[in-house]
Amino acid sequence: MTNYSECIKARRSVRTYEKRIVDEALREQLLAFGQTIKNPYNLPVEFRFMEAGEHGLSCPVVSGTDLYVAGKIKAGGDACVAFGYTFETFVLYAWSLGLGTVWLGGTMNRPAYEAAMELGDDEMMPCASPLGYPAKKMSVKETVMRKAIKADERLPFGELFFDGDFTVPLTAENAGNLAFPLEMVRLAPSALNKQPWRVVKAGLWYIFT
Ligand SMILES: Cc1cc2nc3c(=O)[nH]c(=O)nc-3n(C[C@H](O)[C@H](O)[C@H](O)COP(=O)(O)O)c2cc1C
Repeated sequence: MTNYSECIKARRSVRTYEKRIVDEALREQLLAFGQTIKNPYNLPVEFRFMEAGEHGLSCPVVSGTDLYVAGKIKAGGDACVAFGYTFETFVLYAWSLGLGTVWLGGTMNRPAYEAAMELGDDEMMPCASPLGYPAKKMSVKETVMRKAIKADERLPFGELFFDGDFTVPLTAENAGNLAFPLEMVRLAPSALNKQPWRVVKAGLWYIFT
């Protein structure tokens, strides 16, 4: 049984990999798991593995692995949120098996990834990720990148979550039993580590903006 909160606390993006193959059995286990993930919108996400050499995939910040995974979903409505929920569940499951990933939205030759995914006109592939065993030492490129975007840091609780309106920071004590799930939100990955989420506790309701 995967302990997701422990994975959320321990996970980090991995861009430098050991030269070690993810074997077929593990790939099948991951794909089978991907098919079982249910998001709150009940929108299916199709996962596929792709080899960089076979499809001409490239990502300048990734080294040590040729294996990528991506997901595609029918575009429109709540597809972006549904995809985010499903892909992050996959990422956390991979982490629980000792495998690293990093969401890639921009740092890649996207058309090649979309072609490899055989994206239909009504589909989208918001992100892909390399997949493999994290190297013990990060590449210089990855170290510099993490420093530049302060990837090891997150905004404090009271700068993301508010009490009543946006002028009053929410404390963990006042968040009650939502303190823990909000802390998990705080730790989530985001593009350029921008953390583009804010929550206001308004009476019994928490409004996501
Ligand atoms: C939607 C999304 C898109 C991202 N796109 C990229 C990307 O194109 N290239 C990259 O190197 N990292 C990308 N990242 C990874 C973020 O930079 C990373 O999650 C953030 O800096 C926090 O670091 P951490 O994941 O190690 O906690 C993306 C993350 C998300 C959630």
